[in-house]
Amino acid sequence: MSETKDTLSITDNRTGETYEVEITDETIKAMDLRQIKVNEDDFGMMTYDPAYTNTASCRSSITYIDGEAGVLQHRGYSIEDLCEKSTYLEVAYLLVFGELPTAPQLERWVYDVTHHTFIHEDIKGFLSDFRHDAHPMGILLGAVGAMSTFYPDAKDIDNDEERYMAAIRMIAKIPTLAAFAYRHSLGLPYVYPDNDLSYAGNFLGMMRKMTEAKYEPDPRLEKALDVLFILHADHEQNCSTSAVRSVGSSQVDPYSAVAAGVAALYGPLHGGANEAVLKMLRRIETTDNIPDFLEGVKKREEKLMGFGHRVYKNYDPRARIIKSHVDEVLEATADSPLLDIASELEKRALDDEFFTSRKLYPNVDFYSGLIYEALNIPADMFTVIFAIPRTSGWVAQWMEMNLDSEQKIARPRQIYTGERDREYVKIGEREGPEKITGPPARRPVKALRGA
Ligand code: CMC
Repeated sequence: MSETKDTLSITDNRTGETYEVEITDETIKAMDLRQIKVNEDDFGMMTYDPAYTNTASCRSSITYIDGEAGVLQHRGYSIEDLCEKSTYLEVAYLLVFGELPTAPQLERWVYDVTHHTFIHEDIKGFLSDFRHDAHPMGILLGAVGAMSTFYPDAKDIDNDEERYMAAIRMIAKIPTLAAFAYRHSLGLPYVYPDNDLSYAGNFLGMMRKMTEAKYEPDPRLEKALDVLFILHADHEQNCSTSAVRSVGSSQVDPYSAVAAGVAALYGPLHGGANEAVLKMLRRIETTDNIPDFLEGVKKREEKLMGFGHRVYKNYDPRARIIKSHVDEVLEATADSPLLDIASELEKRALDDEFFTSRKLYPNVDFYSGLIYEALNIPADMFTVIFAIPRTSGWVAQWMEMNLDSEQKIARPRQIYTGERDREYVKIGEREGPEKITGPPARRPVKALRGA
């Protein structure tokens, strides 16, 4: 019997050379391929992996996902246990520090977060200058980036105290920024944080409080929102987290790095999916239209939003937990006609070979929009609410990256496909049409007016 080794032998058929590269954690180092060359002048072999579908960019001990089995754990604790037994702030502590807090540690953490929820009045001032119909995610993006100018000491990223303060400030202030963005879009006065309320309760209050002296959240809604916060807190190296790590690897301050995460989350294939799900359900209108809709998806005329995931090739465990809370929320609010459409759509898709053969199951966003809608939150706030808890994940990942001696500034390679060594042609001598007619590709004047 031949002896087994943790190495991979690669034979380059161009040269007949064989190379042996080490396998660690089921992975080979991309840099080990660089030694594979046709001759001494050759740059060496690279891997090509657009969208990083099979490339580990870091070592991380924060979140474990087994996509085939539908498992999600943070620091070793199952998402099911955390949702049932912890609060969001406890989970945020777990993500950032690696352990569940003891009672005094939690008390201190909650105190620190609660006492940093106010934002500088100047931030409030520039929030007011956004257009009345500005998307709240665009407002949040600007506000988080601008925070770096209010806390310039955060640039000292090697200082433990500064890193802690940045973590506290971001986790504490993001609900305030989110709620102010929402109130701005409605033309309502901003509501300041209330230290007597829980993290989720305070956010609900800042969004919904009107003339009452004290806002008292419905405990069922407060709990459902807290669970949603836990479910969205971290999800390992997704698009926005990679953006935070990538931007953070330049050693910029953490507010700027997290702003990159907010920007990435804005996209409809990432955090914007729950908004897209609701629009899709509204468009379908009745359960009778589901077969036609699914036919359109199969013809690739559109996507079934809220279905499919890069990592989960099984039911997203977060979707299962959310689904169990939908009824509870609807009991406290009003029935949603969209729930019937969503349930029927899910049933039919899970019965259809097109979806099952591609392992397309509901993801976290298939049902979260229904809860937000039941909470009377408009669709363009959904991604903003996703950003609130994801901030703790971004902060934890940013901190981990900072302390990882293997990390450097992110700088992928490319395969150049353009022309080379062309002779420069002066402007009057270049070939092409003599006159351009027709409208410009873009209409700058209209765009400037914001039409
Ligand atoms: N509807 C219809 N077909 C789909 C869908 C969908 N939602 N998702 C994937 N497919 C098809 C896709 O066309 C492809 O088919 P084929 O192999 O015949 O070309 C196959 O399934 C594999 O899909 P993929 O595009 O290679 O998968 P991906 O890993 O690149 O994309 C995804 C993952 C989440 C971007 C994608 O499933 C999608 O666009 N889903 C809808 C948007 C959505 O719900 N996003 C929320 C993700 S969870 C929240 C988060 O973490 O941000």
